[in-house]
Amino acid sequence: MAIQISPSILSADFSRLAEQAEAVAGSADWLHVDVMDNHFVPNLTLGLPVVESLLKAVSIPLDCHLMIEDPDRWAPAYAEAGAQSVTVHAEAARAPVRTLREIRAQGARAGLALNPATALDAYADLVGEVDMLLLMTVEPGFGGQRFLDLVLPKIRAARELIARSGGSVWLQVDGGVSQETVERAAAAGADVFVAGSAVYGADDPAAAVDALRAQAEK
Ligand code: DX5
Ligand code: ZN
Repeated sequence: MAIQISPSILSADFSRLAEQAEAVAGSADWLHVDVMDNHFVPNLTLGLPVVESLLKAVSIPLDCHLMIEDPDRWAPAYAEAGAQSVTVHAEAARAPVRTLREIRAQGARAGLALNPATALDAYADLVGEVDMLLLMTVEPGFGGQRFLDLVLPKIRAARELIARSGGSVWLQVDGGVSQETVERAAAAGADVFVAGSAVYGADDPAAAVDALRAQAEK
């Protein structure tokens, strides 16, 4: 299982997004773009126009994490714009099967995200509809929160579910991923790691990506 690192631009300088994206383009696999609407989560970030501009300006693929209400309406447009991965929240999607299929139909990878308190069981049947499962390891909305160890059993359960389904679905964790926590998330079975403050809070973001990868591969 190849380890992938997806730095979150939530912790970057929003006045220099393209530059901050390029700072990790040589070392990271993805750029994680946190779309927040101030309704699904109590924070507001950016939306489709900014993603469209980033797609033109940066060389790294975009991993768009939609923390918004009504993702059924908006998610396909991100895929259509050219985002290489689009993830919707299970708690917000009213027609997740249709939405995931629409994302894939536009040629993007489709992701389904679960908040820390959302049980995996209710969504197990959707494993064949997704390219990635995202397990939140903090309550979504803000960077710089502490990694929730209570999610570790769900990471293990998701890894087992993915193995039973043929093993091609990626398992992403997002929230509180650092040099200290990445190892236990990896040991539990995660293979794609989002890191905001651990990357953009570092003096050398590219070196921070390399360090996280090395720690996850241990
Ligand atoms: C939180 C976002 C995360 C956030 C992670 O709701 O989904 O992607 O940027 O930030 P850190 O790595 O600082 O916890
Ligand atoms: Zn995120």
